[in-house]
Amino acid sequence: MRITVVGAGYVGLVTGLTLAETGRHVTLLDVDKGRIERLQRGEPPIYEPGLKELLAAQLAAGRLTFTTRYDEAVPGRDLVFLCVGTPSTPLGATDLGQRAAALEAMALHLDPEAVVVIKSTVPVGTNRWAKDMITCKRNRAGLPSDRLAVASNPEFLREGSAVEDSRHPDRIVIGATDVRAFLLLERLFAGSGVPILRVLPEEAELIKYAANAFLAQKISFINLMADLCEASGADIRRVAEGMGLDPRIGPRFLAAGLGFGGSCFPKDVRSLAHQLKAKGLSAALLEETLRINRNRVSLALRKLNTALGGVAGRRIAVLGVAFKPHTDDVRESQSLKLVEALVAASAHVAAYDPEATATAARLVPGVQWAPQAEQATQGADAVVLATDWPQFSELPWERVLAGMRTKVVLDCRNQLEGAKIASLGARYLGMGVPQAEAFGQERKPPPGGPTL
Ligand SMILES: NC(=O)c1ccc[n+]([C@@H]2O[C@H](COP(=O)([O-])OP(=O)(O)OC[C@H]3O[C@@H](n4cnc5c(N)ncnc54)[C@H](O)[C@@H]3O)[C@@H](O)[C@H]2O)c1
Repeated sequence: MRITVVGAGYVGLVTGLTLAETGRHVTLLDVDKGRIERLQRGEPPIYEPGLKELLAAQLAAGRLTFTTRYDEAVPGRDLVFLCVGTPSTPLGATDLGQRAAALEAMALHLDPEAVVVIKSTVPVGTNRWAKDMITCKRNRAGLPSDRLAVASNPEFLREGSAVEDSRHPDRIVIGATDVRAFLLLERLFAGSGVPILRVLPEEAELIKYAANAFLAQKISFINLMADLCEASGADIRRVAEGMGLDPRIGPRFLAAGLGFGGSCFPKDVRSLAHQLKAKGLSAALLEETLRINRNRVSLALRKLNTALGGVAGRRIAVLGVAFKPHTDDVRESQSLKLVEALVAASAHVAAYDPEATATAARLVPGVQWAPQAEQATQGADAVVLATDWPQFSELPWERVLAGMRTKVVLDCRNQLEGAKIASLGARYLGMGVPQAEAFGQERKPPPGGPTL
């Protein structure tokens, strides 16, 4: 199969490389010339575990071509994957500019029997719109289009484990109306050993949004419960554990903290809300999910203000600015929003992230970016653990605390052992953990057992 991937970002690059790994030749096209040049030199433009090695191996095997030109990348291909970005408009709808530009640019170069596969997350109805648009454009140019197909194949990889997720997906969804498109994609994914779901394009488009919105809602729900725990002397971690043992609920996405961010959940929930309202349906459930999430950053700021008697002029060390660990992506990062809020409140912020510093530094001025965690924490009035990189648990906390001016630790991801931090003389604050632990005191069970 001759394959082109359009858009060499997180999804396109990883998809292209893992397809090449299965022995196929893949052309990667991107409008960003600098990105293409870096890739040709074997330099991944993003950080993902295993990506650099995978790129090197596929370049060495001669299975990759990089280009910025549609007239080179599209003719003669059986499958053209569309992996361009679909960000939010200011009103929360999906900005379909990249998608439209890419489809327009490829329409006249497509082979008459090619299958265009939309991997980007696109609003319901986009696949049919794409087929109509390509057909119109080709008809006007006198080119055949009756055997051309457009299929939806939403992507479920997670940043931070994108390569592994792409190699071993948990399901493959194919949305199409054309049997040839189903057969070609099923042949491509044969041997993956996971369920392949054949659905209509509209169903495939909605599966992606529904899955992301459902997970985002789970996070907001546990954060809502975290607030109630904090107000009631209960510990959200134990509540989440008790909930997660129910197989109908499951333990994942029940970690209370600073909320969700990244390039997918926030924009996809906003877009789904927009799609519901456009059909005259209520989006209240999703709007509340977003509202709870927005409030997590203000809650963290409030906790710091209370603990320090105001953050203005205080030195705050922020550990982690990526939207989650194992990525350099800071798009809609809650941690970076907290940094921005602290800077706006006239705090002196020193921040550290193992991978995302360079990207974040370009976006947020007025921050002292430290090359190591301990350089950020030195002399700080408070340390905020904002992104749960595992190495933050392993920091020499005794030494970190000894170097601080005021020993306040705000653990926005409930990642640290609060009792241990408190035993080192610090004031430990979590998200939804009981006040006793927050103030470093021993928590005693209520006499005579819990009262109902
Ligand atoms: N990032 C994720 O974890 C993830 C997971 C699942 C689905 N998705 C979805 O996949 C899509 C891509 O996301 P991403 O994070 O990879 O985006 P990205 O911004 O990292 O990459 C998009 C790439 O497309 C390129 N591009 C833009 N316009 C183009 C055009 N006209 N022609 C060719 N290239 C063009 C950009 O230069 C960029 O390199 C989005 O719809 C997103 O919602 C993302």
